[in-house]
Amino acid sequence: MVQLSINGRQYDVDAESDTPLLFVLRDSLGLNGTKYGCGIGQCGACTVLLDGQATRSCQIPLESVGTQAVTTIEAIEQDPVGARVVTAWVGIEVPQCGYCQSGQVMAATSLLKQTPKPSEDDIAGAMTNLCRCGTYNAIAAAVRQAAA
Ligand code: FES
Ligand code: FES
Repeated sequence: MVQLSINGRQYDVDAESDTPLLFVLRDSLGLNGTKYGCGIGQCGACTVLLDGQATRSCQIPLESVGTQAVTTIEAIEQDPVGARVVTAWVGIEVPQCGYCQSGQVMAATSLLKQTPKPSEDDIAGAMTNLCRCGTYNAIAAAVRQAAA
């Protein structure tokens, strides 16, 4: 049994210690907003925050989470920066199919929590999640708006 702190709640999880955090979130806890894309740390669809830092949860074994606070898309609007990001995302109508977007919002929130006024290079450096619909220009615009 492993104890996790997720979205301000404590969970006791019965899973092997090497189970990826992504599978625990989706399959054990029903937090399906975090998406499975590539499973090899490349696409960012599975991005969550660990102590505020964007992290690809398909690459994090349960045993590595420890006492770090996990935040998923389900609770991101409880964070004032996350709420601003979601407002900008909705206002600019960033999503197309939407599959990558929860991970994009998590990456943007992490960026703006650490760098409230990011440069274009900061945005390009932080927003590395893939989007098969090609919403990259809208993503960058929404990050700028959330920072403004
Ligand atoms: S599913 Fe984790 S990076 Fe693609
Ligand atoms: S909105 Fe479709 S993959 Fe990004």
